[in-house]
Amino acid sequence: MSRPLIFAANWKMNVAPAEARAFATRFLDGFRPGPGRSCWFFPSAVSVEAAAAAFGTHSWLAIGVQDVHWEPKGAFTGATSVALAAAAGATVALVGHSERRHVFGETEADTARKVGAALAGGLVPLLCVGETLAEREAGQTEAVVLRQLGAALAGLGPAALARVIVAYEPVWAIGTGKNATPADAARVHRAVRGALVAAGHPEPRVLYGGSVNQGNAAALLAEPELDGVLVGGASLDPAGWRSIVEGA
Ligand code: 13P
Repeated sequence: MSRPLIFAANWKMNVAPAEARAFATRFLDGFRPGPGRSCWFFPSAVSVEAAAAAFGTHSWLAIGVQDVHWEPKGAFTGATSVALAAAAGATVALVGHSERRHVFGETEADTARKVGAALAGGLVPLLCVGETLAEREAGQTEAVVLRQLGAALAGLGPAALARVIVAYEPVWAIGTGKNATPADAARVHRAVRGALVAAGHPEPRVLYGGSVNQGNAAALLAEPELDGVLVGGASLDPAGWRSIVEGA
């Protein structure tokens, strides 16, 4: 498979700084990324700096942050600004992850502000969209995903839009062991890609996330609509994650 692929590891609320260092040592030992393959890691904010230092600089690597606040600084207890994340070594930011939306109550307006802040501060936003099970069962998958996309990207100029990468993560597939079939994912990816092209994105990239693991990554990535994967649980073990990155 020769097209460029992004393998993104979302470590969620796991992996302390020392564990990130140990992970990097094990992951990098003999690692030879295939041509066009990138590997992105999203540690907890407290481990971003350790991960950035431990992985070092590679053309195929990026370190990201799992969330950013839209304000540049100030009294926002617990939040991470774009500038703080960048100073710790992040070059990418997850924005609008389903857990931010559904566990922490982040609104579509919040997500839009975070996309704008990430872009203004020089981070690549990896914007996550996805429908709940109820929305899927009501036949609203595309409508929900396109509404989330439109809300998050409204008002971006062409240069800003061109830097946005999207992850389709159906909420019902996250951490449940139930993944979308390659054909199901491809249908939504086509809709997302179409909307991005219509909005002026020159080269949309759309990752899939939700219960991706060693057993299903290759089949999912055989579907050309997928430009990569965004993986939670199966990215926490260095050997297992490497086999996904190297093998799919
Ligand atoms: P799982 O791979 O654990 O289902 O998580 C997916 C996810 O939310 C990645 O951002």
